[in-house]
Amino acid sequence: MASPPDELQQLQEEAERTLARANTAGEVEMVRIKYLGRKGPLAAILKSLSALDPALRPQVGQAANTFKTALETAITKRQAAVRTVPQAPMIDLTLPGTPQPVGRAHPITRVLAELTQLFMHLGFRVVEGPEVEQEYYNFDALNIPSHHPSRDNFETFYLDLPPPRRHGRWLLRSHTSPVQIRAMQHYPPPLAIIVPGQVFRPDAVDASHACVFHQLEGLLVDRAVTFADLKGTLELFIREFFGPTTRSRFRPHYFPFTEPSAEVDVACHRCHGKGCSVCGRKGWLEILGCGLVHPNVFRAVGYDPRRWSGFAFGLGIERMIMLKYGVDDIRSFFENDRRFLEQL
Ligand code: DAH
Repeated sequence: MASPPDELQQLQEEAERTLARANTAGEVEMVRIKYLGRKGPLAAILKSLSALDPALRPQVGQAANTFKTALETAITKRQAAVRTVPQAPMIDLTLPGTPQPVGRAHPITRVLAELTQLFMHLGFRVVEGPEVEQEYYNFDALNIPSHHPSRDNFETFYLDLPPPRRHGRWLLRSHTSPVQIRAMQHYPPPLAIIVPGQVFRPDAVDASHACVFHQLEGLLVDRAVTFADLKGTLELFIREFFGPTTRSRFRPHYFPFTEPSAEVDVACHRCHGKGCSVCGRKGWLEILGCGLVHPNVFRAVGYDPRRWSGFAFGLGIERMIMLKYGVDDIRSFFENDRRFLEQL
């Protein structure tokens, strides 16, 4: 068995090693209690002194004291050290980072921004209007007669609200055209505006129909505006949006608020006009409605139709994106599937 001084020597080394590993004030205190405390090895040695050969006592007693003083000094030093050196945070700078997904604008928002930019460069200004509308703005002022099918309950969402004092019932606008009326009531001619916004129709939802979608409306009023102005503006826009070699055609059509009216088609991006399943063998895809503003619309807002003339157009945003990028289901825009959204 080791003699007490040898034992103390070993204890001293052990205690100092343990102390070196103590990194907080609490851990240092644990070391103190372990070696110098009432139940520790030093206390045991001092207690056994009386049972020792009297000749050995001074030597052992002195060794015990040396151990005690040395350890106390070391503990005090370590306490000061752990208190002043702040704990280094345990960060491994070599680890790969956590990817932070960055959001971005929805394709509809981006294309609306692109189109408004394009028309702003042509001198149009952006105007917005309410989504909850009144019959007068959505229909009457646009020269849409009271028997017109678009006024049917199956074509327009009517709201169960007490009707306003005039201007018919409340409804969710079924197109952005009512903002033509609001803008002309607000601004004197001449005027060139575009209106981006959401519209609502109680359509059964399928691959090409949604009950909420987006339109971009355009209206230009000035003196002696002709169909050539309308064609020039829309052809420029089509080439900008779909590409410089895109072919388009104007087809006669009917809208109550324009006369004459037309629908515009672009050559099918898949078959380039030959006819395929995307365009239903027609070779062309319809993208918008347009025409020269009907005199009755001018009369409704107090513009003199003998002095003022204008053109208007309206296009569906989802449809434009579908044609440009070959998206085959309108529901993709509303399902929030990032695998779809990140591709556009
Ligand atoms: N408002 C029409 C619709 O939703 C689109 C439209 C056609 C707007 C001709 C116009 C226009 O301004 O002149 O179907």
